[in-house]
Amino acid sequence: MVRSTAWLLGGLLGLMWVLPALMAPSPTQCTSLKTLENKLANRRHYMKHNLPINYTIRVHYEEVFKLSNISRLRVKVKEEELKDVWLLVNQEVLKKIMRVLPERHPSYKYTVDLEDLFRKVQQVFPPPSPEIVPSERIEEIFDRVKDTNSKGRRFVTPKSLLDNCYRTMHCLFKDCFRSEDGDQDYCGFSHWRKGRKKQPQDT
Ligand SMILES: *[C@@H]1O[C@H](CO)[C@@H](O)[C@H](O)[C@H]1NC(C)=O
Ligand SMILES: *[C@@H]1O[C@H](CO)[C@@H](O)[C@H](O)[C@H]1NC(C)=O
Repeated sequence: MVRSTAWLLGGLLGLMWVLPALMAPSPTQCTSLKTLENKLANRRHYMKHNLPINYTIRVHYEEVFKLSNISRLRVKVKEEELKDVWLLVNQEVLKKIMRVLPERHPSYKYTVDLEDLFRKVQQVFPPPSPEIVPSERIEEIFDRVKDTNSKGRRFVTPKSLLDNCYRTMHCLFKDCFRSEDGDQDYCGFSHWRKGRKKQPQDT
């Protein structure tokens, strides 16, 4: 783990010399995203085993942010905006999960920790550039997600929300998750289907 992080940071530092800063996430960003990745690795235990069978929470349609959303939105909006959506949506999702868990629930602390890690990720995010006018579609998503008057109409399991979070994170920040056996197609559904076959318990 330490070695691969060092390798990753080394690789990124090397890349920074040739790529414009905007294209690659910074090493600090990658470090906080990797920490988040480690924490999310336990999501099955905390968001499925610790909860009643088929337990769902109510979310806005826009809070279901999956790989298919990314491929649809990518043609219309900027990559940086997609990252902003990812950050916002998942922070809202965690707030919703926390709201339904009593403080003494065995998954409460896990959710608080995740929220904390998200805050750390946010701190190393570049602030939105004032020159970039947000796309209309993105504004719409932000407005809906932040609308506290409506609780949303979709019922989704917390585990599947965090699965979406995990996969879309790898897709949007793939430079942070390079593996030694070459480029992974994190944005493709087949990548995750393959993974599921290897670990059939991780559904
Ligand atoms: C949970 O959901 C699955 C799939 O929708 C269904 O087959 C199963 O019967 C459900 N289990 C319970 C206990 O409701
Ligand atoms: C993702 O797609 C679903 C439909 O499959 C839609 O309901 C949802 O609003 C989309 N999410 C975002 C953030 O665009």
